[in-house]
Amino acid sequence: MKILSVASEVYPLIKTGGLADVAGALPPALARRGIETRVLMPGYGPVMARLEGARSQVVFEYDALLGVPARLVSARLDGLDLILIDAPSLYHRSGGPYVDAAGIDHGDNWHRFGALSRAGADICAGIIEGFRPDVVHAHDWQAGLVPAYLRYSGISCPSVMTIHNIAFQGQFSAAVLGGLYLPPHAMALDGVEYHGGVGFLKAGLANASAITTVSPTYAEEIRTPAFGMGLDGLINARAPVLRGIVNGIDTGVWDPATDPILPATFSADDLEGRRANRRALEERFRLDHDDEPLFVVISRLTHQKGIDLLAETTGDLVAEGAKLAVLGTGDPALENAFAGAAARHAGRVGVVIGYDEQLAHTMQGGADGILIPSRFEPCGLTQLYGLRYGAVPIVARTGGLADTVIDANTAALNAGVATGVQFLPVDAAGLRHAIRQAVRLFRQPGTWDGLRVNGMRSDVSWDRSAALYADLYKSLIPVASGHHA
Ligand code: ADP
Ligand code: GLC
Repeated sequence: MKILSVASEVYPLIKTGGLADVAGALPPALARRGIETRVLMPGYGPVMARLEGARSQVVFEYDALLGVPARLVSARLDGLDLILIDAPSLYHRSGGPYVDAAGIDHGDNWHRFGALSRAGADICAGIIEGFRPDVVHAHDWQAGLVPAYLRYSGISCPSVMTIHNIAFQGQFSAAVLGGLYLPPHAMALDGVEYHGGVGFLKAGLANASAITTVSPTYAEEIRTPAFGMGLDGLINARAPVLRGIVNGIDTGVWDPATDPILPATFSADDLEGRRANRRALEERFRLDHDDEPLFVVISRLTHQKGIDLLAETTGDLVAEGAKLAVLGTGDPALENAFAGAAARHAGRVGVVIGYDEQLAHTMQGGADGILIPSRFEPCGLTQLYGLRYGAVPIVARTGGLADTVIDANTAALNAGVATGVQFLPVDAAGLRHAIRQAVRLFRQPGTWDGLRVNGMRSDVSWDRSAALYADLYKSLIPVASGHHA
């Protein structure tokens, strides 16, 4: 079976969030099941620079891809079989993959990710010699037009549309239709039209053979107006082909027993190394050296992530005797709120504003708990890293957080299966209560290490979920009838 995965970010090449982790870790997990996956992504400047000295090959030359010069380059980098769209006018920019250096969305994102989707559909049509995919797997709105291009170009290839976050929909004005080289009749209710404009995610949801989202609970949640962000009607209409498959993590990149980034490695059988990691964190965040619980946050600082709730409850956390280390970037008001809290609670609250992959590892390896008070969370990966590293997750009971953490209620504690703390409602009072409960459990001898070890022994790998994707792909491939190919 051959799969084409289409994504706008892929770890370790380029990452702004969990999508990259998934796009980078699912292909090798599928490969272990004998499934060949190639990943199509934009040839961003820094990614193309990696090709120097690597083995790469031009596999297709466009006269024009949505009106611009482009070619497709295949390369094997970081264990991934990549197909990069070499189109400097679209992808060589300063700033991140979506925004400029000032943090503003590139004005031509419709063009940049329309081209990504167009190339995905073209590969399905067989433009790359020796690689005609059996199924195309499109991730998030940036790849949302793949199923639409397949349809309007009459290319028959089953497609899977995965929603990593329904809050980001790729909504543009109707004026872009011509530039996307879509026919006027695509501007239809069952086509790409959405609120009078062109909706990339909507187009994918309306036209994909199957829809997945990254946890079973989120698959249910997005059928309601509270979580569907306007797309719940369409999601409900397509419910027969919708399912939730929870994300795994790359247990090779995230392995506390071998992680070269950690000051000290450790395992469920020998937690000793965590002490040195904790020490390193206390140094880095200028926190007191004591044995009080150390909670961390590694997150985009946004409303989705409920970080404002944490800002509201930081004083309570400190009053409980705990310490807090925050790593993140995002909403300037929230960045300021934590800078203020660090100044007010010197030695108890520390903040690093920024994006730091290495520090994230040390935080998971040294913290007692990781706080994730998200208002909605399609899957969430930091709780999975926390489970694997013994940073006990304290999470809102929503989406993938609800599906991956076993709450330390009395029954679960008695059965010895709890791995974290869940809370509802997702508001400041709920979070305050959860922090209090966590501190109480921390102070009961043996209990916290019990949670830790349960988490560290639980399976957060891709194995199970890769098998579910494999089954899904297989179910979409038409059974050859009459003759054998
Ligand atoms: P989302 O994709 O919604 O931001 P996820 O939990 O799925 O949330 O994934 C977030 C990913 O980004 C994780 O790998 C997490 O470790 C990483 N991350 C988030 N913020 C930071 C940061 N400031 N520094 C380093 N890594 C971060
Ligand atoms: C999105 C979601 C997050 C999920 C990630 C990877 O960024 O916000 O919950 O873990 O995608 O699927």
